[in-house]
Amino acid sequence: MCGIVGYIGPKDPVEVLVEGLRRLEYRGYDSAGVAVVDDEGAIAIRRAPGKLADLEKVIRAQPLEGRYGLGHTRWATHGRPSEENAHPHVDGSGRVVVIHNGIIENYLELKRALEKKGHRFVTQTDTEIVAHLIEEQLKNGSGDDFPTAFRKVLPQLRGIYALVALSADAPETLVAARLGPPLVVGIGEDEYFVASDIPAILNHTKDVVFMEDNEIVVLRPDGPTFMDADGNVVVREPQRVPWDPITAEKGGYKHFMLKEIHEQPRAVRDTLIGRVSLESSEILLDEANLTDEHLKAVERVCIVACGTSWHAALVGKFMLERLARIPVEVDYASEFRYRDPLIDEKLLPVFISQSGETADTLAALRYAKTGCPVTLGICNVQGSMLTREATGTIYTHAGPEIGVASTKAFTSQLTALALLALKMGQARGTLPEEESREMIRALYHIPAQMEQYLDDDSEIQALAKVHQQYTDFLYLGRGVNYPIALEGALKLKEISYIHAEGYPAGEMKHGPIALIDEELPVVALAPRDRVFEKMLANIEEVKARSGIVIAVTDAESEDLTEKADAVVIIPRTLDLLAPLLLALPLQLLAYYIALLRGCDVDQPRNLAKSVTVE
Ligand code: F6R
Repeated sequence: MCGIVGYIGPKDPVEVLVEGLRRLEYRGYDSAGVAVVDDEGAIAIRRAPGKLADLEKVIRAQPLEGRYGLGHTRWATHGRPSEENAHPHVDGSGRVVVIHNGIIENYLELKRALEKKGHRFVTQTDTEIVAHLIEEQLKNGSGDDFPTAFRKVLPQLRGIYALVALSADAPETLVAARLGPPLVVGIGEDEYFVASDIPAILNHTKDVVFMEDNEIVVLRPDGPTFMDADGNVVVREPQRVPWDPITAEKGGYKHFMLKEIHEQPRAVRDTLIGRVSLESSEILLDEANLTDEHLKAVERVCIVACGTSWHAALVGKFMLERLARIPVEVDYASEFRYRDPLIDEKLLPVFISQSGETADTLAALRYAKTGCPVTLGICNVQGSMLTREATGTIYTHAGPEIGVASTKAFTSQLTALALLALKMGQARGTLPEEESREMIRALYHIPAQMEQYLDDDSEIQALAKVHQQYTDFLYLGRGVNYPIALEGALKLKEISYIHAEGYPAGEMKHGPIALIDEELPVVALAPRDRVFEKMLANIEEVKARSGIVIAVTDAESEDLTEKADAVVIIPRTLDLLAPLLLALPLQLLAYYIALLRGCDVDQPRNLAKSVTVE
């Protein structure tokens, strides 16, 4: 999704903006641009389709200087990726400059009205309209100054936005507003920032204010002024973010994704720390704001999420139903509110999102709030919208996840779900104490088992080499591991562009079996659990049709060695926790195959890290 950076302060704004945009690259983008204003009020803009390196080439060829400015990476929604459609956009006079993340749904209507007033447009974007609306307001708004004109334009916009704007006629002023996509204001020493996400500014300051929806900020050299939609000044105290800029760097790995795969032991450990008492087996989830009375009273749970987080939700269903004996539904966030779901106070809706800013998930949360007094988020980003709108949150402590393909956030979500299932099982009296203790011990052991497994990935590298040329893959799993088959397939397709499907293994014979031939690698998840024999039978079915089998299991087994073409062994844990370990070889396999195929692992094509449009 689009990345935004604005800067006002003593440093060279071009450097600050380009560096900030680079740190937002993980969000995914297809073009970029910057605008700066010099002491005389002259605006200079450079834009380029493609990567930031392309923009830098343009800047080298036509250097620009200024005192302050704004920068943007675009992820196309309206109009193809091109220089013309890249932000920043200007009004008809060339004196108002705007960057935007989100979608203005009524832009055609607004465009037509503006055209009638003589405005001419040069791009296909919805954003350009905003610059023209500000121009119109400045012309006809009874002497409004620039921040006031900007504020008065906002109610005309239907849709969602994070907007930053400047005007040649308002020296050293940046204005920004948020409705939906995130914006964070950074407060440094005599310098101020506004950005889509913290990594963009972390090198300069850790003191930030997360903007609220319908909030506006005016940044000037003497500091930020926050105001509500009516222009009333609002006092906002900055908070200090604990993230270190180094944590957001690659730390010696070739890609963020590989680094993040290797960070999983730490991420899971951090998600557990302070939440479990090994002595009393008590689960402490204070920020979740859940009382035992409520957990006892609820009759159903629904878990709502998108993508990888949705796969975590599917695993969560197994955990909650097993440990807390409560019925659990799992919904795609984009489907939830359109199916007229049954929501009432007996339902506990849980929303999982790494970013906490996914538009579909937030829309589902808002819908659920109309009927459910208690809502729970499972989220990795402190201060994100999800954490502010849900009545409680279980934070995953994975740290910043930069690679677009989610890895450490996923296993941290599984950890958080295991904690929730334990907590609910204990509160509802469905979990015998000994089982509780056993689960907690096993959970605590997972980070060490992950470390042990990740210590040597040469086996997966070799498998990647042998299988990288295939064009289709099938992933099979059963029970709690079937969502891991889905996740393995998603990882492979999103970063290597190989077609891959995940299936519950028992479903194979109802259709996908038709695909099997000597050109189809099948990754079969076969830990030694109660459905192991059934998985063996499915593997036989694949082999009988000349398919290639890569089996992933948790103990040596002659049966498997005989049948499968390759066997990967992960450490053994309790059946319910196996997904936490099975995910690792699948992430690595996807990574190394994508690497061998020369793909852009951290920023796969067409994808965005934080999907802030519905
Ligand atoms: C896949 C991936 C996406 C996200 C999805 C939801 O690797 O990362 O499928 O899981 O876009 O994002 P969050 O969890 O931020 O709501």
